[in-house]
Amino acid sequence: PLIRREDYLAPAYWIRRADLCFDLDATKTIVSSKLTIERNTTQDVQPLKLHGEDLNLLRVLVDGHSVSFRQEGALLIIDAPAADAFTLEIRNTVSPEKNTQLSGLYASGGGLYTQCEAEGFRRITFFQDRPDVMAVYTVTLRGDKKKYPVLLSNGNLVEQGELDAGRHYAKWHDPFPKPSYLFAIVAANLVAREQWVRTRSGKDHLLQIFVKRGDLDKTEHAMNSLIASIVWDEARFKLPLDLERFMIVAVDDFNMGAMENKGLNLFNTKFVLASTATATDVDFDGIESVVAHEYFHNWTGNRITCRDWFQLSLKEGLTVFRDQEFSMDMAGSASARAVRRIGDVRTLRERQFPEDGGPMAHPVRPDVYQAIDNFYTATVYEKGAELVRMMHTLVGREGFAAGMGLYFERHDGQAVTCDEFAQAMADANPHSALAQHLDVFKRWYAQAGTPRLVAHGESDAESGRYTLRLSQSNTPSAGQPYKQPNLLPIAIGLLDRNGQPLQLQLEGEDAPAGTERVLVMTEAEQSFTFIGLPTADVVPSLLRGFSAPVLLKDGLSDADLLVLMAHDTDAFNRWEAAQRLGVNALRAALTHDDTPVLDAAFVEALRTLLRDPSLDPAFKELALTLPSEIYVADLVENIDPQRLHAAREAMLDQLASALQADWAWAFEHYQVRGGYLPNAEQSGQRALTNLALAMLVRHAVASGDNVWPGRAYQRFKDASNMTDRLGAIEALVNAHAELATPALERMHALFKDEALVLDKWFALQGRAAERGGKVFARIKQLMQHPDFTLGNPNRARALLFSLTAMNPAAFHRTDAAGYVFWADRVIELDAINPQLASRFARGLDRWRNLAEPYRSAAREAIARVAAKPELSGDTREIIDRALQD
Ligand code: ARG
Ligand code: ZN
Repeated sequence: PLIRREDYLAPAYWIRRADLCFDLDATKTIVSSKLTIERNTTQDVQPLKLHGEDLNLLRVLVDGHSVSFRQEGALLIIDAPAADAFTLEIRNTVSPEKNTQLSGLYASGGGLYTQCEAEGFRRITFFQDRPDVMAVYTVTLRGDKKKYPVLLSNGNLVEQGELDAGRHYAKWHDPFPKPSYLFAIVAANLVAREQWVRTRSGKDHLLQIFVKRGDLDKTEHAMNSLIASIVWDEARFKLPLDLERFMIVAVDDFNMGAMENKGLNLFNTKFVLASTATATDVDFDGIESVVAHEYFHNWTGNRITCRDWFQLSLKEGLTVFRDQEFSMDMAGSASARAVRRIGDVRTLRERQFPEDGGPMAHPVRPDVYQAIDNFYTATVYEKGAELVRMMHTLVGREGFAAGMGLYFERHDGQAVTCDEFAQAMADANPHSALAQHLDVFKRWYAQAGTPRLVAHGESDAESGRYTLRLSQSNTPSAGQPYKQPNLLPIAIGLLDRNGQPLQLQLEGEDAPAGTERVLVMTEAEQSFTFIGLPTADVVPSLLRGFSAPVLLKDGLSDADLLVLMAHDTDAFNRWEAAQRLGVNALRAALTHDDTPVLDAAFVEALRTLLRDPSLDPAFKELALTLPSEIYVADLVENIDPQRLHAAREAMLDQLASALQADWAWAFEHYQVRGGYLPNAEQSGQRALTNLALAMLVRHAVASGDNVWPGRAYQRFKDASNMTDRLGAIEALVNAHAELATPALERMHALFKDEALVLDKWFALQGRAAERGGKVFARIKQLMQHPDFTLGNPNRARALLFSLTAMNPAAFHRTDAAGYVFWADRVIELDAINPQLASRFARGLDRWRNLAEPYRSAAREAIARVAAKPELSGDTREIIDRALQD
């Protein structure tokens, strides 16, 4: 059944209060609910329909009396609830331990936890489970005191005490009306790190992070991140913590990263627990941004929520933008900010661009879905954040803060749509290009696909003019045969041949206005003429900072790109120039039959960059990493993943050998001296030294020398932090060094009790550079490992998603074994956890872009999954879309 955005109707009833009682038990939990309901008088009189899924119904009372009702599919229908206001009492049971989907109330490691977004509440009790129905919740939890010493729900603890038979209870009240997707309870044996903070208003608030006993010493970074988030949101957006108590609970089995339940955030342990010995710099970073993301949702998502799920990007795009800005502000220097921006753009291009070009292409505000869980996508999140970023570019930092202010002034406490946000931004900035062209801008919400921007520059030496002709287009996608032009903010600078920035004066202006500016394009074709230029040999630097999420074709030659790579003042475009030179080389290797090589000028430019004392190591690491196979595969049609892998590997070998002395220098020069800190500076040094080590081991293995593999093994053994340890073992594993086997054995023995490190152990083998099918064979073998289970999402992702999402050469095999394996796992996983299965099913989204024989084999595997009648709705939607013409 398709749900359409245009079919939205306000609810027929409001639920004002929900009083819930839980008699907790892993096998059978009794849920007693008492709802205060009012008819929505703006709607026609109609039956009350409540959602319910996998529930065992015991009784239904209206105003204390039994009432006639019927159950139709997943709905409980009461035809004549009598009055315009009434109370509805329902009693039902659920079985947490049978709930392997991890949506609703489920068991994990002896405790009970909930996940309700988007539609999990209906798996707890019958309810109008939609975000525009907001109720005030009072929740009583009763359970065994030994098994569940900690009983938590949203809001404030108002009562607790003992019961008979070794049980106890706790009663919670949340004063903020909220949609059911923000409801949560936890009953488990946990301990908490606690901290009091005082906000600017002078109020004190209790912060708590609940984890299993023994994990307490791994919560310091999460607590620091939470405190920094609170301070930042108050400083930058005047949004204070509005709760007396803010709780985070870490759980081992969790379908996603984390969840912003009001006052009671639930987190995947991966985004809470960190110690120097067990977590990498990337993990520390992830914790900082996910803690911030969920905290920021308290305003953007919870105080103002979504009217319906089509508006998901209203909260997700905006909150991703906010967490990206937070991380940039935390990183500090301009260079560290650019490094973060590069990371965010990489994610966008490797995950969202392929989505926009494949069967799951959808607008940031989708028009139709079957299973809403399938729309927690890179488009809604990451492209949604780019839309907010473009608004920020168009109205400026101050203007954006003013727009946020107006948004809260108008809509605090409401469930609204994306239109309200854009309108508030425009209204707060009436003279901005956003306000002027709001309708054009809003096409970004409506049109799927990545726009293409073609730029062509022409100089006229005599008149000192430079004309930039721009044209944009967007290819048709499902249901959208024709697309209108978008509003594109294009940040631009012009350089001369020596890389010196030129003053920019547009025709019609009296004087130059600096060396960088933002052009606003709103039509299919537009030209901009710069005047007063001292040279005709101009190198344009377009789309600085990736100011719009488009595919740029500017026709720059490799010589132009070398100028930008060496001199651009915009760090993003400097990195981008290096990437483009890499892409050009890889493209050439795919079309010609000779041995793949990087040309000498590019190799020298990379050497210069690596040796440049003025550049940060974090930036060097990014610039010296060739574009990924995933990214390049999306840029090229009819891709042969094996050929691409072989070409990239050959180029890596070449870089390893040509820069051998430079890598050795960098490895020594950038060693971190002193104690471990997970900050931008040190993590940049570790990233670069790990890259250098990988290159040195690669070269050594290729040339039959044992010195660097030996050093890598030693470093792996002696490392005082997980970043260096993992870097060293990955260098060995990826180069297929003999020492990889003992290193893997040793790592397993050392960390056999650390679930998050075991995940890394599986993942590093799953994503290892393929050679002769060894990696794929190893992945199949690891499925049988005693520590492997499909029941834990982190573990399943570590091995399976590493193959399909990160290791094209191991996955796309000419004998189709990768696809057979994929199909079997989709079917197997779907019976356990449909949300996870449908994510995994997306591993073959881009099958149409493959060359033969891959394409036909992939199609066959998808068709085999499609033929299974028992597929879940989640997976069915992905598979059907993949096969649609
Ligand atoms: N709102 C959560 C977050 O972004 C994610 C919830 C994901 N839900 C889902 N069904 N996939 O922070
Ligand atoms: Zn979110």
